[in-house]
Amino acid sequence: MTRISLAETAHQLIIEQLKTGDAVIDATLGNGHDALFLAQTIGATGQLFGFDIQEAALNNSRERLQTQQIQTSVTLFQASHAEMLTLIPQQWHGKIQAIMFNLGYLPGADKTLITQAASTLQALAAATQLLAEQGVLTVMAYPGHAGGDQESEQLAAWCQQLNPQQFSSQIILSHHDKPTAPRLFVIRKRGYLL
Ligand SMILES: C[S@@+](CC[C@H](N)C(=O)[O-])C[C@H]1O[C@@H](n2cnc3c(N)ncnc32)[C@H](O)[C@@H]1O
Repeated sequence: MTRISLAETAHQLIIEQLKTGDAVIDATLGNGHDALFLAQTIGATGQLFGFDIQEAALNNSRERLQTQQIQTSVTLFQASHAEMLTLIPQQWHGKIQAIMFNLGYLPGADKTLITQAASTLQALAAATQLLAEQGVLTVMAYPGHAGGDQESEQLAAWCQQLNPQQFSSQIILSHHDKPTAPRLFVIRKRGYLL
C-alpha cells in the first residue's frame, strides 16, 4: 500500500485549490520547502508572502527560491505571522487563495524557537480575514514535542469555534495512529450565498 505523508496531502489540497497568478502566504518559512512549492504552483505571475521570526529561515528560503530561479513576486517578512494582517498590504486582504502553516521548530536549528499557541491562534484569526472566499488554510501540527501538544489542542478548539456558516474545518490524522502523531488541519472559507 502506498502511504502519502500529511505534508504531501497538504500539497495535494493546495494544488487543487490554486491556479497560476494566485496570491498565497507561507506563514512559517523554515527551510523554504513549502515556499518553493507554493511559488512553483502559482508561477511567475503569482504573489507569495512569507513569514518567519528567524533570519536563517528567510535566508534559507530565499536561497532555495533563487536556486530554482523562481520568477514569482516574493515578499518575505522577518516577523511573527501574528502580524500578517498589518504587514500584508490592504490590497491583498480577502484575496489570498491559500495559506500554509507548518508549526514547530526550524529543522537543524534551535529547537526552543518554536511556534507558540497564543501567536499561532492570533495568526490564524488574521489568516481567516486575509483568505479569499473559497480559499484554503492548512496547518501541520506536531503534538509530539513539548508545547506542540497544547498548541494542537488549542488549534482543535479554535476550529470548533469557527462560524460554520463562514468556514468548514477538518482534521486529517497521520496513519501512525498515536496521540503524538502529526495532524493536518484544513480550514476552508465558504463563499457568501447570494
Ligand atoms: C517546521 S518549520 C517550517 C517548515 C517550512 N514550512 C518548510 O517548508 O521548510 C517552523 C518554522 O516556524 C517558525 N516560527 C516560529 N514561530 C513563528 C512565528 N511566530 N511566526 C512565524 N514563524 C515562526 C520557526 O522559526 C520555523 O522556521
